[in-house]
Amino acid sequence: MSIEKFFDIPLVAALALKEKQIQQIYRPIIAVHKWFARRPGTLFRGLILAEFGQRPLKEIFFEPNDFPDRLVVDPFMGGGTPIVEANRVGCDVAGFDINPMAAWIVREEIEHLDIDEYDRATFRLLKSLESQIGDLYRTKCPLYGDDDVPVKYFLWVKILDCVKCGRDFDLFPGYLVADDTRHPRNVLVCHSCGELNETSTVTKPGKCKSCKSTLQLDGPAKRGRCSCRHCGEPNKYPRSTAEPFRHRLFAIEYFNPSRKEGHVGRFFKKPDQFDLAKIDKVKKIRENSRLKFVPPDKIKAGDESSRLIRWGYKRYRELFNDRQQIGLEQSCRLIAAVRDTRVRNALATNFSDLLRYQNLLCRYDTMALKSLDIFSVHGFPIGLVQCESNILGITNENGTNVGSGGWINIIDKYRKAKKYCDAPFEIKRDGKRKIVVPIVGEWIGEHRADSRSRNVSIRCLSSAEMSTPPSSVDAVFTDPPYFGNVQYAELMDFCYVWLRRLVGKDFEGFSQDSTRSPDELTGNDTESRDLAHFTEGLTAVYKTMALALKPGGPLVFTFHHNQITAYCSIAVALLDAGFLCTVAIPCPAEMGGSIHIHGTNSSIVDTVFVCRQRTISQPLPDSISPEQLVKLLRNEIEMLSSAGMQPSLGDIRCVLFGHLTRIAILLLHRTWDMKAEILEKLALIQCTIDDFVSVPELITELTPPPQSRKKREVTLSLFAEEAANAISL
Ligand SMILES: C[S@@+](CC[C@H](N)C(=O)[O-])C[C@H]1O[C@@H](n2cnc3c(N)ncnc32)[C@H](O)[C@@H]1O
Repeated sequence: MSIEKFFDIPLVAALALKEKQIQQIYRPIIAVHKWFARRPGTLFRGLILAEFGQRPLKEIFFEPNDFPDRLVVDPFMGGGTPIVEANRVGCDVAGFDINPMAAWIVREEIEHLDIDEYDRATFRLLKSLESQIGDLYRTKCPLYGDDDVPVKYFLWVKILDCVKCGRDFDLFPGYLVADDTRHPRNVLVCHSCGELNETSTVTKPGKCKSCKSTLQLDGPAKRGRCSCRHCGEPNKYPRSTAEPFRHRLFAIEYFNPSRKEGHVGRFFKKPDQFDLAKIDKVKKIRENSRLKFVPPDKIKAGDESSRLIRWGYKRYRELFNDRQQIGLEQSCRLIAAVRDTRVRNALATNFSDLLRYQNLLCRYDTMALKSLDIFSVHGFPIGLVQCESNILGITNENGTNVGSGGWINIIDKYRKAKKYCDAPFEIKRDGKRKIVVPIVGEWIGEHRADSRSRNVSIRCLSSAEMSTPPSSVDAVFTDPPYFGNVQYAELMDFCYVWLRRLVGKDFEGFSQDSTRSPDELTGNDTESRDLAHFTEGLTAVYKTMALALKPGGPLVFTFHHNQITAYCSIAVALLDAGFLCTVAIPCPAEMGGSIHIHGTNSSIVDTVFVCRQRTISQPLPDSISPEQLVKLLRNEIEMLSSAGMQPSLGDIRCVLFGHLTRIAILLLHRTWDMKAEILEKLALIQCTIDDFVSVPELITELTPPPQSRKKREVTLSLFAEEAANAISL
C-alpha cells in the first residue's frame, strides 16, 4: 500500500501544473513526436516512486532512483509517459497500444540514438533541401529593398466560385493579419485592393494607404455564408459536391536578418509579382514530378475525419499545397537514402511530426504571430485562412530559431529530447526561479555501456490480446482512453499514411493501411462504438491485468470526463476484474489554457485511480457517509489550491466523480454479479451513486471552494485504510 501511504498530492500537483503549462521544458522527451492528451511525466514519476520507493515522495523525487527487477506494464501506452518514467528509474517495461503510430513513437523515445551521427545526417539533409527547394521560400523585402530574404509564413485565404456569376471571391472571416501584441501596430488587409496596412487601432482603422477604401476588421464570411463580392449573391460553403477549396496567397511574413537590428516589429508584405510567379513555377514543378512518397490514400469517414470530406477533401494529399508536396517529397527521398537504420528512423519520425505544420489546415495565430499546427485541437477544424510555414525553418545569426514549423525547429526539439534520455533532470521551483536538478544515474533506454540493461518490450497490439505470464507484473501504470475524448486513430492516420510509405510495412502494425481498429476503446458514432463497447473492452484489459499482476500489485490509471456515465464504465470494469479502488487521487493533468480545453468548462484535473485486487480476508465498511466525502473533497480542493491551481466547477465535478466511482465499487463489490448484462451493470452503478448523494446539490455545496486553509487532517489515506483492511497484500 505504498502509493496510498507515500504519495504527496500538493507536491505532485504543483509540479504537474507547472509541467502542463510548458511540458517540453519539464519533459523534453515528449518532443520526439506529437501524441494527444499526454499526462504529466511528474505525475507518473510521483506514482512510481511512491509505490516502489517506500519513502516519502519529498525525499526521493529529486534523487536518482533505481528499481531493478521490477516489471511495469502499460496496456494503453499512447505517447509512452508511464513507460518512459518507469524505464528511467530502472524498471523493465512492457507497453502495448493498438495504434501502430504509438508503438513507433515510444520505441523512438526509448531506443538509443547516436547524437553525433544524427547531427551529421541532419546537416546533410538541410543542406540538400536548401539547395533543392530553398529558393521557393525566399522573397524580396519591400521595406529595405533587399533580395532573397527568407519567408517565415505564407498566408492563404480560401476562395469560392459564385453560384450565380461564376467569378471567384475570397472567404475572409476578418481582415486582421496581426494584432498589436507582438507587433507595434495592427496589420489589416484591405478588403478592396488587398494591400497590407498598419494601424494603431482596429475600431477606426482609417483608409487604405493604397486605394483609400475604408479599412474593415470584419470579413464577409460568417457561419457558412458569404456574399459574392462581384454580384452580391449569397453563397453557402462548404458545398456537398465540392472539390477541395482553392486558396489565394494574400500575405507573407518574412524575416530580414540584416535589418532586424534597427527594425521594430515583424516584417509583413503583400505578395509581389515575383512571389506570384513562384506559385506558378511551383505548380509546374509539381505537375512535372513523379511524387513517389506523397500518399494517394483516401480519407475514410469518421467522427472527426468526416469534416474533411464535407469540405471536399477526399485524399490526404489534397491537404497539402504544391510547394508543401514538393518539399515533403524531397524530404522523403533524402531520408530514404540514409543508410544507418537508426538515424533513418529518427529522421522519418521527424518527418512525420513535421507534417503537422506542413499542411493547409494550419492556421495563423494573429496574436502570437506563429503557425498553429493541425493538432492544436483534437480534431480537424477547417479555417478559412491558412498558414504555410517555411519547410526549412530559419536560424538567426546567433543560432536561435526564428518562426516555427520547419525542419530546423523539429530537429532542434528532437535533439533535445534524445539528449534528455542520456541526462534526465527535474525542475524545482524557488519562488519564480526554476532550478534544473540533474538526476545523475537515471537514464532512458535499454543499454548503457556502464550500467545494467533493462528489458523493454513495445508492442502494437490490442491490450485484450496481450499475453503476460500470471503474477509476473509488479505494477500497471496507465492512462486509458477517456471514452470519446480523443479519436486517436482518425487523427493519427494523417501522419501514418505518409510514415508507412516512407518506412515500409515491416514494423509491427504497419501492414494495415490505417491505424483505425474496431477494437479501439474510444466512443465513436461512425463506427457504432458506444459506452457498452468501451466498458466491455476496458473490462477485458483489466481482467488480463488482474491475472498478470503479482498479488497486491497496483493497477494505477488516470481518468477524467465531463459525464458521470463514463465513470460508470470504469467502475464496471474494475468490479468485473476483481479490483477495489484504494484511493482516488486528484491531480492537474491538462493545460488550463490549451485550445481544446479553453472555454469548454472542461476539467484540467484527472482522478488517479489506485486499485488492488480484492482478495478479501477482512470485512470492508459498508458505507462511507456523504459528510465524510464532503470533508475529503474540501481538503483535496484546498490541497490543489495550495499547489497553485484554482479548481473550477468542472474540476470539482471530476474530483467528485472520481470519489463516487471509488465509493460505488466499495459499496457494490460484495454483491457484484459479474454475469449480469452490461447495461444492467452500468445502471446499477448509476443508481448506487444517485442513492448515495445528489451530485448537483453536492457541487453547489462545494462551490465556490472554501477559503480557509485549516484542517488537513483528512488525508487521502482516509479510505485507503478502510480498503487496506480488506486486501491481503
Ligand atoms: C490516453 S492515450 C494514452 C496517452 C499516454 N499515456 C500518453 O501519455 O501519451 C490512450 C491510448 O489507448 C490506446 N488504445 C485504445 N484502445 C486500445 C486497445 N484496445 N488496446 C490497446 N491500446 C488501446 C489508444 O490508441 C491511445 O494511444
